[in-house]
Amino acid sequence: MRLQLSTWPDVEAYLKRSTAIVIPVGSTEQHGPNGFIGTDALCPEILAKGLSEKTGALIAPTMSVGMAQHHLGFPGSVTLRPSTMIAAVLDWLNSLARHGFDRFYFLNGHGGNIATLTAAFSELYAQSSLGTAATNRAGLRCKLRNWWDAPGIRGLSSELFGADEGSHATCSEVSLTWYAYPDEARRDVRFDGRAPEGPIYEADDFRRRFPDGRMGSNPERASIEAGKRIYETALAGLVDDYRSFSDSKD
Ligand code: NI
Repeated sequence: MRLQLSTWPDVEAYLKRSTAIVIPVGSTEQHGPNGFIGTDALCPEILAKGLSEKTGALIAPTMSVGMAQHHLGFPGSVTLRPSTMIAAVLDWLNSLARHGFDRFYFLNGHGGNIATLTAAFSELYAQSSLGTAATNRAGLRCKLRNWWDAPGIRGLSSELFGADEGSHATCSEVSLTWYAYPDEARRDVRFDGRAPEGPIYEADDFRRRFPDGRMGSNPERASIEAGKRIYETALAGLVDDYRSFSDSKD
């Protein structure tokens, strides 16, 4: 069930059976020469659709632009500043809380969002603690679930790709998007082995360290077949994780 394809009476009825909502959150940033710029937004969106089919969860619009300042050295990347993203997350959550939602399950596709999302959650709780929330909203709960931390995924990635998985433009995330969008898959791109690993600072430094955008990965090994296994494994783990959160009372 997608919020974007629901009517307000649909949402009103949904709130009578659940006050939880899934918010896919990602990024619009380069993913090397064979990964889609939307990879980090597409991965949680793809999995959220499956999660909804299995649990009936309501899926919010994807927050498809995240904190990606270090990728701005590559054409097509778009970022929110951390402070902008915190403000946006708070506006989304305060809007949804007004209607009665109190369990916010962020299905995340971008490591660069983690610190900012965690700070946004703290801001939300502070609004309640400091009495600045518009209404009494004790009991709001946020959960951040990185899709690659779903049970079974790290083991599967290691089995499929070993050290070639890397940490950005990974074989797993490229495979998952190719599984969902096979007609767009860039299967003819070849690489000269793994990319370097290293620290992340600002955009110009990032491009100097990682000239084609990858970090540690060799996504030449990405495949639609691997993407199917990753999808099925991630989804199996996410169903229980979502249910235990959406049903939680404390
Ligand atoms: Ni990514």
